[in-house]
Amino acid sequence: MIGENERWLLSFYRASEIAGALFFGRLASVLKPGRVQVDLSRHFADEAQHAWYWTDCLAQLGAEPLRLDDAYQRRYTAALGVPASLMEVLAITSVFERRVINQYARHARSPRIDPAVRAVLARIMEDERWHIHWVSRALRTLAREHGKDAVTAAVRRCQTADREIYRELTTEHAERVRALFEEGAET
Ligand SMILES: [Fe+2]
Ligand SMILES: [Fe+2]
Repeated sequence: MIGENERWLLSFYRASEIAGALFFGRLASVLKPGRVQVDLSRHFADEAQHAWYWTDCLAQLGAEPLRLDDAYQRRYTAALGVPASLMEVLAITSVFERRVINQYARHARSPRIDPAVRAVLARIMEDERWHIHWVSRALRTLAREHGKDAVTAAVRRCQTADREIYRELTTEHAERVRALFEEGAET
């Protein structure tokens, strides 16, 4: 059985993966045919799988996912508004995916991590690397069409919002973060 802090964190990951799957799924259903439509469809399927991995992992650890109405992506929408163009979608996604992989890598390094959690983190990080890869490629294509400055400005705007959201989140949940990452996993 895992502790409450870890249960909350894995539930938060699950909620964020579900929010990602729904976001990309909606986009995948409306995009015109082309490379981005294909890549987004795979991306959507990956995020849905990730939500399942966390659900399953919690069950293996003897816990049920908490019902959370918070997810990283919801904070993005609150800070940046709903993305109005494909460029904005890709800019947010590129910044967000980097945040996810950094957070998962940080978690994987934390002491006394359960092997089931470590296995899920490793499995998901492999997919997240591909997410960063295809989005970077799509942004380079857009930069050729719309100019590098427009893309750079969109990404910078998202990076600024992302830093603020992450700071807010870690401040709000400072006790859990300390328990999980700074003093070793709770028992
Ligand atoms: Fe994911
Ligand atoms: Fe992802």
